[in-house]
Amino acid sequence: MATISVIPYSFLILIILFTSKVNADDKFTYLCDKNNDRGDYITGSTYHNNLKIAFIYLTFNSKVNYGFYNTNYGQNEDKVNLIGICRGDINPEDCRKCLVSSKSYLTEACPNKKEAIGWYEADQKCMLRYSDRSILGLSEMWPAIIWWNVNNATLADQFNSVIKQLLNDLKNKAINGDSHRKYAVGTLPGPSSDQTINGLVQCTPDLSVSQCDDCLNESIAEVPKYCTNKIGCRVFRASCNLRFETYQFYQT
Ligand SMILES: *[C@@H]1O[C@H](CO)[C@@H](O)[C@H](O)[C@H]1NC(C)=O
Ligand SMILES: *[C@@H]1O[C@H](CO)[C@@H](O)[C@H](O)[C@H]1NC(C)=O
Repeated sequence: MATISVIPYSFLILIILFTSKVNADDKFTYLCDKNNDRGDYITGSTYHNNLKIAFIYLTFNSKVNYGFYNTNYGQNEDKVNLIGICRGDINPEDCRKCLVSSKSYLTEACPNKKEAIGWYEADQKCMLRYSDRSILGLSEMWPAIIWWNVNNATLADQFNSVIKQLLNDLKNKAINGDSHRKYAVGTLPGPSSDQTINGLVQCTPDLSVSQCDDCLNESIAEVPKYCTNKIGCRVFRASCNLRFETYQFYQT
């Protein structure tokens, strides 16, 4: 059933759950439609043109200043559905840059795939996905990508319980965000002296309160499985993501 791939990183480790096709470097991580469920489009076809038009919306839409883009273009089986989201601290200009870079990487990495998803984790941070099926308002748990910092926390039990507390507090803030933004960041003191734990959680803002709650619950539940005692961890899904570190990694 599920294939789990482990890819060694320079400093972080990446795990991809429930997928077979994986490629990653430390900047752009993507998954082409894993079993090719949605099929391929032909170069120059209506679907291909609709995809290009959907990308134009993304590139030139300067009205969106809250980091969440969704659009669809075309009809019936040629309809393209596209979602782009930036991490909540990314400004609108960098957000568009990130999504436009992702567009190029993703179409190159997944040529002719009707469905694909990619996460760009450079200076800008964003996720871009498209499909011929409707994806707006769906809570999608899979695929999930988990990175962790290989370094262990001292006072691990206390550290783990602070993480749990922090992520749950942030989740309760983020789920009550509006239809533009479901995002929260914050800190708690860690158990070691002068240690601050920084956390971030985010859902795509098209999710309902309970969908966002559910997605983040599932993601928080991955932390003890994959990131126990680790001083940093990221859990990325199509519909939500979380991260914590012992340094400040977001802008306030
Ligand atoms: C972290 O702890 C695990 C389990 O005890 C150990 O295998 C691993 O080598 C440790 N990592 C580092 C970077 O020390
Ligand atoms: C998420 O977890 C909390 C606490 O464990 C629980 O109360 C809540 O019902 C869960 N939410 C969903 C949508 O399952």
